[in-house]
Amino acid sequence: MIKKKIEEAFNKQINEEIFSFYLYLSMAAWFDSINLKGFAHWMKIQAQEEMFHAMKFYNHILERGGNVGLAEIAGPKTKWESLLNVYEESLAHEGHITGCINDLMDLVIEEKDHAARSLLQWFVDEQVEEEANFSEMVDKLKMVGNHNPLLLMQDKEMGQRQPGPNPFFKTGAEQ
Ligand code: FEO
Repeated sequence: MIKKKIEEAFNKQINEEIFSFYLYLSMAAWFDSINLKGFAHWMKIQAQEEMFHAMKFYNHILERGGNVGLAEIAGPKTKWESLLNVYEESLAHEGHITGCINDLMDLVIEEKDHAARSLLQWFVDEQVEEEANFSEMVDKLKMVGNHNPLLLMQDKEMGQRQPGPNPFFKTGAEQ
């Protein structure tokens, strides 16, 4: 059985992850609106990963006899100054999420919840990858600058991103 304190903190994290989904989907929409279809594709896959993250917490709470309580999702921005600005903001956002995951890890260690700790270790490792991906994009976009042919080449490369192997939802039908 999951402790109330941890259930509450995990429900808050579901909100953070769904906000991340919303933010990246909004960035994808902005890319689509300026016809950078490769960048839009990359961000849609990123958004998909965020919903998968939210569902990992959702499933964990329910599997341990807790209750999922979904809260209101804040509205993300809808416009950015530049591609670089999108990726710099995303990197800062991932830094915030890493902070949330670290705080959750501190909590479950304090509460001696080993099952939750195992779940969170996955997120600790995932955040290293998330920050590295966005940091790489910030560096690349700084190199590309305002050189449109290079930007279009990068757009093509972004369109190659493959979705992760994990479905959003465990429907129950697969059990
Ligand atoms: Fe769910 Fe991008 O962290």
